[in-house]
Amino acid sequence: MKVLVVGGGGREHAIVDALSRSPKVSEIFCAPGNAGIATQARCLPIKDTDVDGLLSFARENAIDLTVVGPEAALSAGIADAFRAAGLKIFGHTKAASRIETSKEFAKLIMEKYGIPTAGYRSFDSYGDALAYVSARPFPAVLKYDGLAAGKGVVIAADLEEAEGALRDMLLDDRFGKGKVVVEDYLTGPEFSFMCFVNGNEVYPMPLSQDHKRAYDGDKGPNTGGMGAYTGLPFISDDDREFALEKVMKATAAAMVAEGCPLSGVLYGGLMKTGEGIKVIEFNARFGDPETEVVLPLLESDIYDIFEAIACGRAAAEPVWSDDVTIGVVLASKGYPGSYDKGFGISFDKDLDAKVYHMGTSISDGQLVTSGGRVLMVCGRGRNLGQTRDKVNSEVEKVHCSNLFHRTDIGHKAFE
Ligand code: AMP
Ligand code: GLY
Repeated sequence: MKVLVVGGGGREHAIVDALSRSPKVSEIFCAPGNAGIATQARCLPIKDTDVDGLLSFARENAIDLTVVGPEAALSAGIADAFRAAGLKIFGHTKAASRIETSKEFAKLIMEKYGIPTAGYRSFDSYGDALAYVSARPFPAVLKYDGLAAGKGVVIAADLEEAEGALRDMLLDDRFGKGKVVVEDYLTGPEFSFMCFVNGNEVYPMPLSQDHKRAYDGDKGPNTGGMGAYTGLPFISDDDREFALEKVMKATAAAMVAEGCPLSGVLYGGLMKTGEGIKVIEFNARFGDPETEVVLPLLESDIYDIFEAIACGRAAAEPVWSDDVTIGVVLASKGYPGSYDKGFGISFDKDLDAKVYHMGTSISDGQLVTSGGRVLMVCGRGRNLGQTRDKVNSEVEKVHCSNLFHRTDIGHKAFE
């Protein structure tokens, strides 16, 4: 089978890596891919949102199955276009992707179907939003109702900060014309629950936890994620069961009832609050960097899962290893702010861990940095303590003068 993977980050590298373990897959293409992916797939100079370009390529090269990584491609309608052309694709329709692309849509679904989440109100007027926020306790949670490249959520500590954020979103239209959702502020540990979903059928993946802050001790600015791990000790079997039944399956059923069934990955960004598990956000795709720590544990053939769901069929229940993984992201110095690119990267020969490429390219025959998040080193073991020691020592075998990383990935598991 010939498979096309859309996207070019660490998530797509992990998807390509999982596909490369399938005996059914003979050839993997990736658009646009990156330098690491290029060692396992043929990379194509087609942008992930170039739906027409991807469709032509898939048709002309008799691609059997296309797998979509990024939300931008889903929101550009790639799944609708491929399905209309009779091509198999793993990824939600544009209508179903609203569970991620519109915060207000997601909130309305949760409210209507009783899925636990923070209380909220949405506003399109700056004055009304400001009046509402002023009359409530701080911090205030402000969310732009649309895709904002991970910058659409502001936790404002005081009125001044809230005013600035609301002005950005509602007066200056920084992310485009859109509403703002104001949510109750919740506290508790967060975790990521990804499931393969085909309409009402939900196949859970192992739980994982992202680390959004740039520096050790959860200090510094928010990033796309500086590391992740599996094997969370603070989420009990009952918590997981609740999250699976009352959040993930309930949301899949709600989307069927709304006439926009899910067909792809549903990612629940969940929080274990004092009043139980609640939804912080949904994504309509694999998370990044969570995918890089979760997919290595899949023992089933990922092609079979993707193919069944792309065809609207039930998949066999995926089998997962009970090993644990810890993935450390190496990012360009300056990230998530501005950073330089083009720094050479080398590895010690005895590096003994999976290395996923997030933002790399080849320049004059040399592997170089080409993004904010550059690499993820993923260690695996029978327990978290041993895996942490292992990954922290393997990370030192990556050499580059312009990278930094956190040394405490998984710390909440050790508290
Ligand atoms: P989101 O993009 O919706 O996941 O929000 C980004 C981050 O903001 C989350 O990972 C949380 O840490 C934080 N956050 C979002 N919503 C809330 C909330 N209602 N209460 C507390 N923190 C939140
Ligand atoms: N790791 C969070 C995300 O993929 O949105």
